[in-house]
Amino acid sequence: MTGSPRLLDGKRCGDALKTEIATQAAAVKAVRGRAPHLAAVLVGNDGASKTYVEAKVKACGSVGFRSSLIRLPETITEDELLARVRSLNADPELDGFIVQLPLPAHIDADRILQAIDPKKDVDGFHPQNVGNMVLGLPGFLPATPSGICELLKFYHIETAGKHCVVVGRSNIVGTPISILLSRNAYPGNCTVTLAHSRTKDLPSITRQADILVVAIGKPGFITGDVVKEGAVVVDVGIHRIPDASKKSGFRLEGDVDHPSVRGRCSAITPVPGGVGPMTITSLLMNTLKAAR
Ligand code: GUN
Repeated sequence: MTGSPRLLDGKRCGDALKTEIATQAAAVKAVRGRAPHLAAVLVGNDGASKTYVEAKVKACGSVGFRSSLIRLPETITEDELLARVRSLNADPELDGFIVQLPLPAHIDADRILQAIDPKKDVDGFHPQNVGNMVLGLPGFLPATPSGICELLKFYHIETAGKHCVVVGRSNIVGTPISILLSRNAYPGNCTVTLAHSRTKDLPSITRQADILVVAIGKPGFITGDVVKEGAVVVDVGIHRIPDASKKSGFRLEGDVDHPSVRGRCSAITPVPGGVGPMTITSLLMNTLKAAR
């Protein structure tokens, strides 16, 4: 490719969607007498998780939602956390809530996610919401895959008939985005290949991708030599790389090696400012939906 790729700017897209969310939140408040209310549960002291949860809570304020940040100690037992989930399920003042992942190793995350009331599961992680997504039935879509779809829509990226390669099969991103992009919808109607750690000759697969979604959790994993000329690249990764030249002591990098990929692709999501802000916007969209 000659020239720079188009930047799929998640901040710009997210801000546009947030303006609409704020209008609708005000309408909900006028009818019900209270604003949509999201709670976020954060267990332990992981720095990255704390940053993400605080960003989610701050975003609520920007669209006129009420928010609650519930911080719980690393030492909480699974039963104690289950009891908190049940009390949030029963709280009539709360429209939706999330439990930030990962949870400490002594807690079975599946058990916690399955205890969340599907009607308040604005992360879309409960099996009932996952099943509805697979079947194309109404429910909450998981925030990151849904945010990627909104971003593709905002930039009018053509998807029908394209070969989409998803790298990474997590429950949060890889598996659901592979399902959403293969559905008979827009964005969708892709032919999807879901690649993972046991995929043989991954470069031969990624080089076939018209749309490449990378959610493998390894900084700089996808380099320019494995990307098809003109591909649309969605970088879901976000890693803190120690960097003494930064005031914070770290810089943020994705799963894609942007310097080498930029010259080959036609469009790419930046890191930061690409998928991250879209995840938060989708969470707000789900919370608005729950409030209605
Ligand atoms: N950890 C990483 N991404 C997410 C997310 O979208 N929701 C929650 N709850 N935890 C996460």
